[in-house]
Formats: sequence, C-alpha cells, structure tokens
Amino acid sequence: MEAILLVGGKGTRLRPLTLSTPKPLLPMAGVPLLEHQLIRARDAGVRRIVFATSYRASMFAEAFGDGHRLGLEIIYVTEDEPLGTAGAIRNASSALTCEGDAPVLILNGDILSGHDIAAQITAHEKAAAAVTLHLTLVDDARRYGSVPTAPDGRVLAFVEKSANPPTNQVNAGCYVFRRSVIDEIPTGRPVSAEYETFPGLLAAGEPIIGHVEAAYWLDVGTPAAFVRGARDLALGAMPSSVVTTHEHGVLLLAGASVEPSAQVGGGTTVGARARVGAAAQVESSVLFDEAVVEPGAHVVRSVIGRGARVCTGAVLEDAVIGDGATVGAGNELIGGARVWPGIDLPATAVRFSADV
Ligand code: GTP
Repeated sequence: MEAILLVGGKGTRLRPLTLSTPKPLLPMAGVPLLEHQLIRARDAGVRRIVFATSYRASMFAEAFGDGHRLGLEIIYVTEDEPLGTAGAIRNASSALTCEGDAPVLILNGDILSGHDIAAQITAHEKAAAAVTLHLTLVDDARRYGSVPTAPDGRVLAFVEKSANPPTNQVNAGCYVFRRSVIDEIPTGRPVSAEYETFPGLLAAGEPIIGHVEAAYWLDVGTPAAFVRGARDLALGAMPSSVVTTHEHGVLLLAGASVEPSAQVGGGTTVGARARVGAAAQVESSVLFDEAVVEPGAHVVRSVIGRGARVCTGAVLEDAVIGDGATVGAGNELIGGARVWPGIDLPATAVRFSADV
C-alpha cells in the first residue's frame, strides 16, 4: 500500500527549534518525530511513502534516504511554494503508482498517534468510502476541527475551530483517500483539505466516514505539546517500538551523563552526549544532543536545544532554549519564554517570561 506524508509546514509555533530543523525532524526519544509514525504505517502494511516536502526539503532526504533502513520505499516531492494540506496531497500524488479505487493513507508529519491504522484502512474499504478520517476524542474541541457523524459512521459536517463545536470528536490528521478522489483536487494553487476538500466532498454527497478511535493522540504543534510527547514516549504512555530504554521514566541516549546527585525524572530525555551536573533538577524536559545543565540548575517542562547550556543556579520552567544558546547563572525563564539560537544570556538575576 502507498502513503503520502505531509511534512512541508514551517512549524512557526515551535520556533526557535524549527528555525534550523523542520518540525517533523525534531528529535523525539532519539529519532526524528515523524519516525514513530513511519514505523506504525509500515507495520500496518504501507510499503511506499511519498514525502510532500516544502520547508527545508533537502533535510528529509538526508535523514531518511531511500527508506531502506526502515524497510520502506521513500520518494520525495517538493513544492516550490507550500500548497496547503490538500494541494500538497494532489501534488505528491504524481509519484503514486496505484490507481482507481486503491486506498492511499495520508499522514501528518507532526502527529503522535497510537491508533490502529490497519483498522482504519479496513473501515474505509468496508464502507467503500471516498475518504475515511481518523477521529479522536478531546475534552475541548474548540481548537480543532469538530466532525459529527451518523450512527453508521458517515460524516455529517466539518466545523473548524468553532466556539461551539457540535461534538468532541475531532479530525486527528490521518486519512485514507480513494486514489481517484485525490485526482479531483485542483492543481497549481493552495488547497486546504479541512476548509475546502472535505466540505466540498460532503456537499457533493460523497461518502466520507469517520473512524473514531480514542487511542493515544497528540498534535505536536507547540513547545508544551513537544515536551508532553517526549515525556509520554519516555514513560511508555505513547507506545513506540523505537523506545526500548526507558528506565525510571528517564530516557538516556548514547553517551548521556547524569551526576548521581542530580534529580532527573518525569519522562525526561537526556540527548546523546548531553550532561546533567551535580544536584541539578530536571523534570519532564528534553535535552537535545550535547546540551548541558550545570550543577544546581533547575529545569522543568522545558526544551534545551542542541549544545545549549543552562548555567549553575538558573531556573527554567516551560522554556525553550535554542541550539547553542547559553542561559547564565541566576536567570529565571518561565511561562513559555524562548531564547533564540546562539544567544548568550549573561549571569544576572532577571526573570524573563517572554522571548529573548
Ligand atoms: P505551524 O506553522 O506552527 O502552524 O505548523 P505547520 O506549518 O507544521 O502547520 P500545521 O501544524 O497545520 O501542519 C500540519 C501538517 O501538515 C504538518 O506535518 C506540516 O508539515 C504539514 N503541512 C502544512 N502545510 C503544508 C503545505 O503547505 N505543504 C506540505 N507539503 N505540508 C504541509
């Protein structure tokens, strides 16, 4: 079976981490974020995947090559200008080999999902649907596309980001398309699947099915979600065959070192050759490769970029530190503060709750 993976977004909400690396390639539990989904797709029977790239396109081929490392055939199709979700699907379909009624799996490159992809494909084929969407259940659907369905699973409406969502079933960003339906998407201009393609198919009376499954699901769009996803992989709440070494809820990658008096926990990832000094406290955080947390520093729910340094006594809560930046002793970064790559914050006693 063939699939298309959408990985062309700029990932603006995850800046500064995404200034140098596209969001789907950010390291999560020691591998690029999208690799967790690739493996699940392969295990569900996908053999050939077309990557729909745009932003920093060449980095995907550098990371995955022809796919043989993962037992997949990977092909890359690049948009000169981002074409939106459905425009990207249409554009990438030039590299598909299947035809007619064949099912094509569409994945977003920034989702972590434990749902049963094979069951979704089976539901699609059983219903002879035009499109079958995975729907997940959330507590508050206002930030998502709310998708009510009839008892037989047929989608009744698409209500995007509404103050009054009709249901807490939401579009989870994983679709099965009938191949011939992809061919109907207009070419040469940006097209949104959520705002244009799905409502258009519904209006035309095409059968669109909602496959509801409330397995683990996370849209890794923001720093807080990034930290949560990494934590859930380290703790095993999000199952991934790539993660095998979680011990006491801490993922130590090759060459990572943690001083015995440091307190590290809550699903923290300590990247390759990263270091945590004596008496430091690191909780539910992600240290990219070669990051350093010096003795006595305090890091909670934060991301420390590649080679970045948190100096003795600094305090970080819900912060994002760009690659190679330094947070000098005494600084407090809280409430979503972000430090841009390479910035050197001198030792001081300043409390930042905004970007630096
Ligand atoms: P933000 O800028 O923070 O909203 O992130 P994003 O650019 O990744 O957008 P969003 O989270 O809505 O994208 C969902 C998925 O679709 C991600 O995997 C993106 O890489 C991908 N995507 C979004 N827009 C495009 C596009 O125009 N072309 C392609 N090929 N992929 C896209």
